[in-house]
Amino acid sequence: MRILILGASGYAGSCIKKALEKEYQEVFGTYQNQMKAGQFSGDSSMYQYALGKQGELEALLRKTDPDVVISCLRGDFGRQKEAHKALGEFLAGKENGSILYLSSANVFDGDLRKPHLETDLPKAESSYGQFKIACEELLAGQLGERAVILRIPEIWGTGCPRLKKFQKDVQQGRPVQTYGNFWVNYTTDRQITAWVSYIMKQNLHGVFHIGTRDLYGYTAFQEELAERLGVGTPVFEIEENQEKQVLAVVPGRQEIPERLQIGVEDVLRLASGRERWMV
Ligand SMILES: NC(=O)c1ccc[n+]([C@@H]2O[C@H](COP(=O)([O-])OP(=O)(O)OC[C@H]3O[C@@H](n4cnc5c(N)ncnc54)[C@H](OP(=O)(O)O)[C@@H]3O)[C@@H](O)[C@H]2O)c1
Repeated sequence: MRILILGASGYAGSCIKKALEKEYQEVFGTYQNQMKAGQFSGDSSMYQYALGKQGELEALLRKTDPDVVISCLRGDFGRQKEAHKALGEFLAGKENGSILYLSSANVFDGDLRKPHLETDLPKAESSYGQFKIACEELLAGQLGERAVILRIPEIWGTGCPRLKKFQKDVQQGRPVQTYGNFWVNYTTDRQITAWVSYIMKQNLHGVFHIGTRDLYGYTAFQEELAERLGVGTPVFEIEENQEKQVLAVVPGRQEIPERLQIGVEDVLRLASGRERWMV
């Protein structure tokens, strides 16, 4: 099986690539930033690709000829939509061609009354959430069940950029953005890679919510993490919510085994360097 990871130099993409390389022979990836060319110069599995150059994407697909594409891209929304349309067309033309698309909990930011399961209809208010819904629908329209949608909340994994920034901001007494009366769930690099690997091996289809089963207060999580990291007390810049708000993609798919399920305590332990959950 040939696998192409778009955005393989990013946080999620690089973790997924590293994990899949242990299981599959032919795993390719892309980076965008020319400054990273040196970093990948000796790595024949990494290709430079920038959104907007459609010819380049087609050439990349011809060269790598993937059966599975894993999309971990960021960048201009319009250009991402164009790229995903071309990807869908390419994969639709292949027998069993499929895509795993990293979507977001923000597809539900237009309905903050409760946590959401895979069976709920997305409703977004933010342009980011609306863009993610548009990509999900585009791919599902082109590929049906062969478009696997992975909706994720905030990633707090080992050495992730969000964690590094949080740690530095707290240590240096810089204001940390937070939201009062706001409840969310979380995921980690390990949970995402373990689920991607399992979904591929078991040939599962449809929509998956990859996140903790339980929820936590947004500010309480930051306070708890700062304490466990031993970096001091955060100086918060709080955006208060009058009413309780929830942004959480809770996992409800029965095919995913118990050993791949995690809770917020596992995320806190992993992020603070006291890991418990292993796959
Ligand atoms: N991180 C989270 O907490 C989170 C939560 C929910 C959903 N997601 C979704 O998960 C996916 C991955 O997120 P991430 O945090 O791992 O992202 P990231 O670390 O910022 O990585 C983004 C990747 O996209 C590439 N990229 C950026 N602009 C591009 C362009 N114009 N053309 C081509 N490639 C471009 C980057 O290449 P360079 O490295 O060369 O710049 C990098 O490989 C995204 O779709 C995001 O919406 C993430």
